[in-house]
Amino acid sequence: MRVLVVGGGGREHAIVWKISSSRQVDKIYCAPGNAGISELAECVEINPNDFDAILDFVKYEWIDLTIVGPEEPLSRGIVDAFEKEGRRVLGPNSLGARIESSKSFSKDFMRRYGIPTAEYKVFSSYIEAGDYVRLKGLPLVIKADGLAAGKGVFIAETEKEAMDALRLIMKEKAFGAAGDKVVVEQCLRGEEASFMAFTDGKTIVPMASSQDHKRAFDGDKGPNTGGMGAYSPAPVVTDALEAVIMETVMKRTLKGFSSEGINYKGILYAGLMIQDGRPHVLEFNCRMGDPEAQPVLSRLDTDLVDIAVAITGGRLGEIDIRWKDDASVCVVLASGGYPGKYEKGKPIKGLEEVKSLKDVTVFHAGTSFNGNDVVTSGGRVLGVTATGKDISGAKDRAYEAIGKIHFEGMHYRKDIAQRALRRT
Ligand SMILES: Nc1ncnc2c1ncn2[C@@H]1O[C@H](COP(=O)(O)OP(=O)(O)O)[C@@H](O)[C@H]1O
Ligand SMILES: [Mg+2]
Repeated sequence: MRVLVVGGGGREHAIVWKISSSRQVDKIYCAPGNAGISELAECVEINPNDFDAILDFVKYEWIDLTIVGPEEPLSRGIVDAFEKEGRRVLGPNSLGARIESSKSFSKDFMRRYGIPTAEYKVFSSYIEAGDYVRLKGLPLVIKADGLAAGKGVFIAETEKEAMDALRLIMKEKAFGAAGDKVVVEQCLRGEEASFMAFTDGKTIVPMASSQDHKRAFDGDKGPNTGGMGAYSPAPVVTDALEAVIMETVMKRTLKGFSSEGINYKGILYAGLMIQDGRPHVLEFNCRMGDPEAQPVLSRLDTDLVDIAVAITGGRLGEIDIRWKDDASVCVVLASGGYPGKYEKGKPIKGLEEVKSLKDVTVFHAGTSFNGNDVVTSGGRVLGVTATGKDISGAKDRAYEAIGKIHFEGMHYRKDIAQRALRRT
């Protein structure tokens, strides 16, 4: 089988890595990929949002299956374009992807189907949103409606912070049309968890649980990032809680989609806040989390290509999906300055040495080649991922590997998975 993976970050490296061990796969392409991915797949310089170019490539190279990593092409309708041409693709169509690409759609959807979530109101008027803020009192969470690459959410503790966020989103249009509307919602307190599932629209199967660390600095301090590390399993998601999440969140969501005539296929990700032992949905994503995909796919014991083919064929109920008992921890190595301004092009040392370490895989996010040298090319550069018999063992192994890697300005958190260890 010939497979194309769309995207070029750590999540896509983990997908490529996982399918590279599939017996059915003869050849993997990745658009656009990165330096690490190029060791397992042929990287092609195609923009993930240029669907004509991608479809031409798929036809010309006789690709049997395309797996889409990031949310942007999904929300712009890459799956719709593929399905129109009768091509096999893993991911939801643009109607399904609205669950991520419009927070107001997503909140209204949750309200319609009784999915637990924070109380909220949607506004397209800055004045009315401001009145509501004063009426409700603080703290509140202010969210730009559309995709904002993880930068469109503000936890406002004071009225000034709330009004600043509203102004930035609605008046200054810092996120463009994504700020035409805002969601103003109640601030929940508790512990966050990522809950992902595979679905073919009829059957929904949970993936191993995970948690990520969004803040830039140790102790969950500093600005939000795309994610500085993640681990699986997440001790907060007990078997009993998983059952509750499946019933009150995942199955209700699937039922909601089918009531609205949306055939949702691919990955459904619920970002949850566990408050007093009960799950509340903060948001849905229509793809795997990055970096959660790295530790979660490291634990997947079933062929991902089998799963993808079963999903696209509407036969997910027929396959058995298994997870390894091992735990997995991923620590992100970022460029100095990230998530603000950072420099690129720094040579990365130690990658060869780390390859010989058992149970360690270094997933590349922002890397490229400068001649033969692997250099940094993004904010998040590498995801050093290790497995072990428990979280503690996996974490030690990941940090041991990091000790051998270096690039100028390298920044990483020293406390990934501490939250999980405090619980055990
Ligand atoms: N209602 C809420 N109460 C408390 N914290 C929240 C709430 N909504 C979002 N957050 C925090 O903001 C982060 C980002 O919000 P989220 O809805 O996941 O948006 P996105 O991932 O698109 O930026 C969450 O991971 C969580 O830490
Ligand atoms: Mg989120």
